[in-house]
Amino acid sequence: MAEDSTNTFLEKAWSDKGPKLISGFSRPVYHNLMGLLRGRRYDKRAYGGMIRHTEAAMLTQWAGQVPEGGVVVEIGCYGGLSTSYLLRGLKKRNGRVYAIDPFNSDLDKQAQLTDNLVPLDNKPTRALVAERLRRNGFEGRFELIEGYSQEAAAQWDPAVKIDFLWIDGNHEQAWRDFKDFQPHLNPGARVAVHDAHPRYGYQAVVQDVKRIFSEGAWADLEHVKSIITGRKVG
Ligand SMILES: C[S@@+](CC[C@H](N)C(=O)[O-])C[C@H]1O[C@@H](n2cnc3c(N)ncnc32)[C@H](O)[C@@H]1O
Repeated sequence: MAEDSTNTFLEKAWSDKGPKLISGFSRPVYHNLMGLLRGRRYDKRAYGGMIRHTEAAMLTQWAGQVPEGGVVVEIGCYGGLSTSYLLRGLKKRNGRVYAIDPFNSDLDKQAQLTDNLVPLDNKPTRALVAERLRRNGFEGRFELIEGYSQEAAAQWDPAVKIDFLWIDGNHEQAWRDFKDFQPHLNPGARVAVHDAHPRYGYQAVVQDVKRIFSEGAWADLEHVKSIITGRKVG
């Protein structure tokens, strides 16, 4: 998809007006239905989760579309809510998630390096999130990387190719997160960015999303609440 069609897609996704008919049918109706059926499995309040039910269901759906043995990288795991929905889809594919977050490590460093949009008090620990994921039946399918996306990208094993990159970390670094991991994406990999809608998200992410999806060619662009996603095809 060229830059012009990306702009048209984003204008439509971000517009307040008119029914959101994409590819001839109402995607929001489908997303809401998916949210009702599949987006309420894990306790959002207990996890301190930050995704909507419709977004949760679609994370499962997209993770279930990776190739057999596929790899998802999650930037910004927090309490493991989105991670659980990703793993639910990945399980069908015998896949694996690498979830990156500083968790509750060195809170002074986090105050400097993160965007202060997520409260640092009572941040879930890596051990707590690991326990949750095990309890949810995902033992052996996840690696929790305690640290920052930029460090994880710098140390990334180039042999591990990524089929789905989910960006929900520092809201001022979505573009950087994309660029850091881009060299490790498999052809056709999905990229999804949270908080990327002017009404439900953050302006810095909105700007970065324009840059991300205007670069190169993309297929299957989709908008679900504050998520913008597509598959990188060139
Ligand atoms: C909005 S929350 C993630 C919510 C989670 N995806 C969910 O839906 O439940 C953002 C998380 O990203 C973390 N974070 C901030 N900067 C980061 C970075 N550079 N790398 C990884 N995680 C980061 C924050 O500490 C916070 O835990």
